[in-house]
Amino acid sequence: MLRVENINTYYGLSHVLQGVSLEVDSREIVTLVGRNGAGKTTTLKSILGITPVKSGKILFHDTDISSLPTHGIVQKGIAYVPEERRIIPGLSVRENIKLALLKSKNRRREEEMIDRVAQYFPVLKDRLGQEGTSLSGGEQQRLALARALFTDPEIMLIDEPTEGLMPLLVETIAEIIQTIHRMGVTVLLVEQNVEMALGISHRAYVIDEGRIQMSGEAKAILSDEQVACQYLAI
Ligand SMILES: Nc1ncnc2c1ncn2[C@@H]1O[C@H](COP(=O)(O)OP(=O)(O)OP(=O)(O)O)[C@@H](O)[C@H]1O
Ligand SMILES: [Mg+2]
Repeated sequence: MLRVENINTYYGLSHVLQGVSLEVDSREIVTLVGRNGAGKTTTLKSILGITPVKSGKILFHDTDISSLPTHGIVQKGIAYVPEERRIIPGLSVRENIKLALLKSKNRRREEEMIDRVAQYFPVLKDRLGQEGTSLSGGEQQRLALARALFTDPEIMLIDEPTEGLMPLLVETIAEIIQTIHRMGVTVLLVEQNVEMALGISHRAYVIDEGRIQMSGEAKAILSDEQVACQYLAI
């Protein structure tokens, strides 16, 4: 479904992604793991065209999307839940959801989508009128996931969904991602909580210093002690 082929991405003169290739098949959960600064967020931003690639290809259903603008990529069915969540200040939970729907094919089904948010994210149900930025960290993460999910993407790129959350909530977020997957959405996940991420993933890639160092079945990577010491600091 999504194929990244040998991409190179720069910040100014700094050559951050050095020939990254990875693939995500339809209905998979794939995790990209690696230590701080390895290039995980840059990989997601490159797929989205937020940090455009200098060379290489990004194929979505065999169409090269690497030169499309970000909104064109999102319209193709690729949703992004960024590390920083980006809840819009001054807007209620309901308005944050409406704004996300505005550019999606679900824009005329607003009320139905808001009902679905209430159904899948009961914590948000009673908070639709509350200002989005006044939600707790865990609630904001649910809002960020809901916002992306209800644009009906084919694939969601999710960057560090458990960052800053208490351990109890890590399990909740894992369950939400599994629910999203059961709804038929493919997932490319970046996560520091390697055990959680690999526990719910089919396959994984390990990135270090802007290069994919290895890939394989998630469980095999999780149990590989050398990978753990060398690349993951666990
Ligand atoms: N806007 C930027 N300008 C210059 N360098 C950047 C920029 N964003 C990221 N970098 C650098 O690119 C490298 C990869 O960063 P990236 O954010 O992709 O790492 P990451 O794997 O997501 O790390 P983390 O786990 O800390 O989120 C780092 O060395 C970082 O300092
Ligand atoms: Mg990051």
